[in-house]
Amino acid sequence: MAKRIDIKGLNLYYGRFHAVDNVTLSIPPRNVTAFIGPSGCGKSTVLRSLNRMHEVIPGATVDGKVLLDGEDIYDAGVDPVEVRRTIGMVFQRPNPFPTMSIRDNVVAGLKLAGVRSKSRLEEVCERSLRGANLWEEVKDRLDRPGGGLSGGQQQRLCIARAIAVQPDVLLMDEPCSALDPISTLAIEDLITELKKDYTIVIVTHNMQQAARVSDMTAFFNLSGVGRPGQLVEADDTEKIFSNPGKKETEDYISGRFG
Ligand SMILES: Nc1ncnc2c1ncn2[C@@H]1O[C@H](COP(=O)(O)OP(=O)(O)OP(=O)(O)O)[C@@H](O)[C@H]1O
Ligand SMILES: [Mg+2]
Repeated sequence: MAKRIDIKGLNLYYGRFHAVDNVTLSIPPRNVTAFIGPSGCGKSTVLRSLNRMHEVIPGATVDGKVLLDGEDIYDAGVDPVEVRRTIGMVFQRPNPFPTMSIRDNVVAGLKLAGVRSKSRLEEVCERSLRGANLWEEVKDRLDRPGGGLSGGQQQRLCIARAIAVQPDVLLMDEPCSALDPISTLAIEDLITELKKDYTIVIVTHNMQQAARVSDMTAFFNLSGVGRPGQLVEADDTEKIFSNPGKKETEDYISGRFG
């Protein structure tokens, strides 16, 4: 299932504003890759371009290639809806459909795709909730609304919803920033579990989190206000946090700026 992503010469714009400059980066499968860097350097913008969510913003454009196992997701003829099914996304704030039942939240994507078989939906629901490490906590209240869960549970529900459609890649934009430390650790454990099957990219402001969960870290920075964000370096997480190649990276991870 897990696939590799190769980003080549990627430039991202909001209207005439050049937000991200010339990113080239390979993201290996069955690995967690962390995007770190100061606010506004383009982490979320790059992440959204990996499943064609950038272009839904009016005026936003993309130049360059994003290859998924060698195939450009931006090629003419590629269906962006299919890309978003293959490359799932989990957002900063858990966003379940609040009045929809827990069960229906999980299988929403499948229902949208036309799956009607009750037994199939039940099976996917259980498998996804188990995969998101939430099953035991909710199995007796699957008919209750998703909005009634705690923040950490809602985030795991959103992860269950994302994996229900069996994506190849999971993109997570600061998935723990709205969570308490216990829920954060639960999500981190889950990410470590999920990387056996998925390619995972996580944006985080939390250095300890990047160091704990990721195998590779990509550091983005800005050379000034109004300037585009750039990828400074990407390497094994251990190397980035112990012996980075660039002084800029060292200054950032040691807390000298950002
Ligand atoms: N919808 C948008 N319209 C116009 N400009 C945008 C939009 N979204 C982001 N930008 C701009 O693009 C640049 C990169 O923003 P982005 O949200 O990717 O940064 P980030 O690294 O994710 O920051 P943060 O750590 O604060 O989440 C910023 O200058 C931002 O103001
Ligand atoms: Mg962001």
